[in-house]
Amino acid sequence: MAKKVYVGMSADLVHPGHLNIINEAKKLGKVVVGLLTDEAIASYKRLPFLTYEQRKVIVENIKGVEKVVAQNTLDYSENLERLKPDFVVHGDDWKVGVQVETRAKVINVLKKWGGRLVEIPYTAGISSTALQEKIRSIGTTPQIRIKQLKRILEAKKFVRAIEAHNGLTGMIAENTRVSCGEKNNEFDAIWLSSLTDSTAKGKPDIECVDLTSRAISLNEILEVTTKPIIFDGDTGGIADHFAFEVKTLERLGVSAVIIEDKVGLKKNSLFGTNVKQTQDTIENFCRKISLGKKAQVTDDFMIIARIESLILKKGLKDALERARAYIEAGADGIMIHIKERDPEEIFSFCDSFLNFNKKIPLVVAPTTFSQVSEEDLKKRGVNVVIYANHLLRSAYPAMKKAAELILMRGRALECEELCMPINELINLVKAEKP
Ligand code: SPV
Ligand code: MG
Repeated sequence: MAKKVYVGMSADLVHPGHLNIINEAKKLGKVVVGLLTDEAIASYKRLPFLTYEQRKVIVENIKGVEKVVAQNTLDYSENLERLKPDFVVHGDDWKVGVQVETRAKVINVLKKWGGRLVEIPYTAGISSTALQEKIRSIGTTPQIRIKQLKRILEAKKFVRAIEAHNGLTGMIAENTRVSCGEKNNEFDAIWLSSLTDSTAKGKPDIECVDLTSRAISLNEILEVTTKPIIFDGDTGGIADHFAFEVKTLERLGVSAVIIEDKVGLKKNSLFGTNVKQTQDTIENFCRKISLGKKAQVTDDFMIIARIESLILKKGLKDALERARAYIEAGADGIMIHIKERDPEEIFSFCDSFLNFNKKIPLVVAPTTFSQVSEEDLKKRGVNVVIYANHLLRSAYPAMKKAAELILMRGRALECEELCMPINELINLVKAEKP
């Protein structure tokens, strides 16, 4: 009887390296490809460009592939236990890097029935990672970008967003990556904060920076990034105007807008009740949500309703009543916000919210309760965490200190240690090769 050969792969960008592995696997027996699902891939790196279904069709049509099965986790164990293959074939590049542990587990599981891991020398000069980088450097389109937020939510159930307010901070949000054990961590999405966008323009966060100016920052960010954008829409303004804003954002490829249920002169929420702020009526805000929903053209765009009840000391009951009403009006997500360091109230909201909402995502911005980890937020059912102001807040003190040191010393030497080397700066953004 023909031997059974298992090949696990993502096959997002199929290249000769993949074909070589399948060819080698074919020599050993009948090839079953364990195709990593979006969920499995997203558990350790960025979402693939192609969906699972698209990738499946491609792999099924590669010569020598007998069958494609879903591999739901990075860990092969479940599929291996079920299929009991004689061989697992993989490129030898996983002996180092994030897949080291996965590899060790494969060897151990195979031992149970005398199966063997066969490693094929890595095809030099080509890799999915390099191709991915290349594609990313070309950019994206509004149609592709807009879908990304829903895709990531679907695949990971948890989105990590960081603010950007110009091209440079957009580049940091797009490109910063750290390796943590088996995972490569990066931000999934970009928050276009009204606070940091306004502050960077030297304006207060009171909706005096109009959509046209906000769109300038947005465009800078769109130009240098491919990740989904969550736009801080402040109060959304007059409901009938909001419908037009939705169309503008959607056309640009923004994935979601978050609007907060306040009216009149909006102040930043973190002032809490220290300044006069007025909450909208449930009825008015529901009308705004539904006008926005009617205005959007695609199914991809999301309108997320932000509840200010806890900021304005209206209590949990009011917050929950509003959450129910806003969902009823068509909100695609709920954001809950507090200004206290103690997260108890937000946790109570999360617990109650989970009791009546099973479908739409819950968003928080842990600015004041920054001691709470992503893991704890996940446990409470939070789906989107927004680091709403951290790039601006970290940059400003360094810039101010540099300015002070130059004034104090009458030269720049003393502030050099705060500064990146000039060589790094001139090479940070490279001109396109002609
Ligand atoms: C922003 O980043 O502009 C926000 C979040 O709306 S907060 O500043 O906390 O209100
Ligand atoms: Mg804001």
